[in-house]
Amino acid sequence: MAARSVHIIPSILSADFANLEAAVRAAEEAGADAVQVDVMDGHFVPNITVGLPVVAALRRVTRLPLDVHLMIEAPDRYVDAFVEAGANVLTVHVEACCHLHRTVQHIRELGALAGVALNPATPAIMLQDILHDVDVVVVMTVNPGFGGQAFIESVVPKIERVRHMLDRAGRSDVPIEVDGGISKRTAPRVVAAGASWLVAGSAVYGHPAGVREAVRELREAIGQETGKGDR
Ligand code: DX5
Repeated sequence: MAARSVHIIPSILSADFANLEAAVRAAEEAGADAVQVDVMDGHFVPNITVGLPVVAALRRVTRLPLDVHLMIEAPDRYVDAFVEAGANVLTVHVEACCHLHRTVQHIRELGALAGVALNPATPAIMLQDILHDVDVVVVMTVNPGFGGQAFIESVVPKIERVRHMLDRAGRSDVPIEVDGGISKRTAPRVVAAGASWLVAGSAVYGHPAGVREAVRELREAIGQETGKGDR
């Protein structure tokens, strides 16, 4: 099978919130494929971050796709508003949706890509009956809520299981996005397991040599040429 093109997606959660325009522009100039906006409500996860005004503001200042990760309870209430604000990819958690099929369908009807996320303890089988409807599967490799956490090693076999499920369902086009603790050390492992969209917060915005070098290092770690465009 041809190597899947790997996307590097900096998460602004680890950026300087007083200068988010500079953060997304740095990601753009570094050749990132998208930026991730982590929306947290203090209920679904023990943290509160940003919401609709920030997505709308970032939409105005970058051409990069906005990958919006809703770590909120009852995300159905805000799907329309986040797509309207500029989300290109909108991810909801399996654990937060009691009508997941309808939610995913609605995100797609609005013209955004529909992502479905699994927390570390949520088994891959929970995707069984939504495989044919999703555009992205997000496998959390930390417990959601904060940047800079340690990568959860035990999740790697789940990435393999999800990849196998998607491929067997004829959905080999659907990327697995991994989110949490992704660095030059862990990136090769998750790519080998079947992930192709890598979200990285602290490894990018916390890198002492800056965003450009951080993105270059991640691409180097997975054997990708540096620079823009699909690999
Ligand atoms: C965690 C967020 C992640 C986080 C990743 O709840 O969903 O996107 O920003 O941060 P790092 O890459 O620092 O683990």
